[in-house]
Amino acid sequence: MAMAKSLALFLLMELIVGGYGDGANGLSMNYYVFSCPFAEQIVRNTVTSALQSDPTLAAGLVRMHFHDCWIQGCDGSVLLDSTKNNTAEKESPGNLSVRGFELIDDVKGQLENQCPGVVSCADIVAMAARDAVARSGGPVYDIPKGRKDGRRSKIEDTFSAPSPSFNASELVRAFGQRGFSARDMVALSGAHTLGVARCSSFKNRLSDPTVDSDFSKILSKTCSGGDNAEQPFDMTRNNFDNFYFKALQRKSGLLFSDQTLYSNPRTKSIADGYAKNQATFFHDFQQAMVKMSLLDVKEGSKGEVRLDCRRIN
Ligand code: HEM
Ligand SMILES: *[C@@H]1O[C@H](CO)[C@@H](O)[C@H](O)[C@H]1NC(C)=O
Ligand SMILES: *[C@@H]1O[C@H](CO)[C@@H](O)[C@H](O)[C@H]1NC(C)=O
Ligand SMILES: *[C@@H]1O[C@H](CO)[C@@H](O)[C@H](O)[C@H]1NC(C)=O
Repeated sequence: MAMAKSLALFLLMELIVGGYGDGANGLSMNYYVFSCPFAEQIVRNTVTSALQSDPTLAAGLVRMHFHDCWIQGCDGSVLLDSTKNNTAEKESPGNLSVRGFELIDDVKGQLENQCPGVVSCADIVAMAARDAVARSGGPVYDIPKGRKDGRRSKIEDTFSAPSPSFNASELVRAFGQRGFSARDMVALSGAHTLGVARCSSFKNRLSDPTVDSDFSKILSKTCSGGDNAEQPFDMTRNNFDNFYFKALQRKSGLLFSDQTLYSNPRTKSIADGYAKNQATFFHDFQQAMVKMSLLDVKEGSKGEVRLDCRRIN
């Protein structure tokens, strides 16, 4: 008991004093505790009320965080607008359905009133994604804060994002190159429990004989509405649950990159485990999300705290 207590205390001290793991030493759970004590609350309240009027925004915020982190690290680069001499990440064709920019602006405005120049846009995106997951019925977890905002956002950087045409081994490799295990990758793919894809992202599957025949009819019907017609990933697009993995079991994964998780023995057994046990999925998802939230973060003078999330200072 005493040992457990001192271990817990040690871990706590590690978080407060030692920061958070390799390459992110200045980050900590209570980074803003003195400098902006209401930061977390402002993000949570804004996300909560935004999702009350538009629950589909949760998916947009989670996807925004993924795209932010994957390209140039979690540094708010996804938020920057294009300028006369620069075409930003958000112009990429792959940006479709990255949504929630207005919510980030809203939070940033409130935070600038409370504590000017303190809370980075990258941290706002990371907190908003976390709160969107929790508000949709997913796991509740904390993330370290202290990311700085980057100064680069270029459309060509987005071409390295994983493609929906990747097969399981390509996905394992692409995520492996960024430090994620196959288990992390399958858990993170479970974010597709939220939201939709457009026909343009899955129309290559309309003639795929491995797709469940009833599901295939649904896809054809959706695509009769054109390239931008939306199809939910699972039956509960606004609920964070394990139905995405159950859909894979029924050969009803929406993207090729979803269903392919079921065609590889290693990723299949992980996906089966998540379909069977939602708690396991939630546990692994939150761990993988914290890991993703630390991807190539900028600290100290490597970044800045942007005053307007759409523009470098
Ligand atoms: C494994 C590789 C991944 C691929 C190939 C991929 C690809 C895609 C594609 C093509 C869409 C639909 C875009 C559209 O048609 O509008 C999408 C949507 C989405 N993705 Fe992923 N994704 C991947 C991983 C992730 C990860 C790691 C997350 C977050 C942790 C994520 C979160 C989302 C969400 C929430 C949506 C729905 C967005 C909405 O409804 O607005 N994805 N993804
Ligand atoms: C690009 O334009 C912005 C103003 O829109 C300017 O501040 C910046 O220095 C320019 N960058 C380069 C590389 O020319
Ligand atoms: C996404 O990219 C397209 C060009 O491919 C652009 O027209 C659109 O404005 C971008 N969307 C956002 C939200 O920036
Ligand atoms: C996955 O894709 C790669 C690259 O296109 C290919 O070499 C490999 O054979 C594919 N693996 C499977 C199992 O289809």
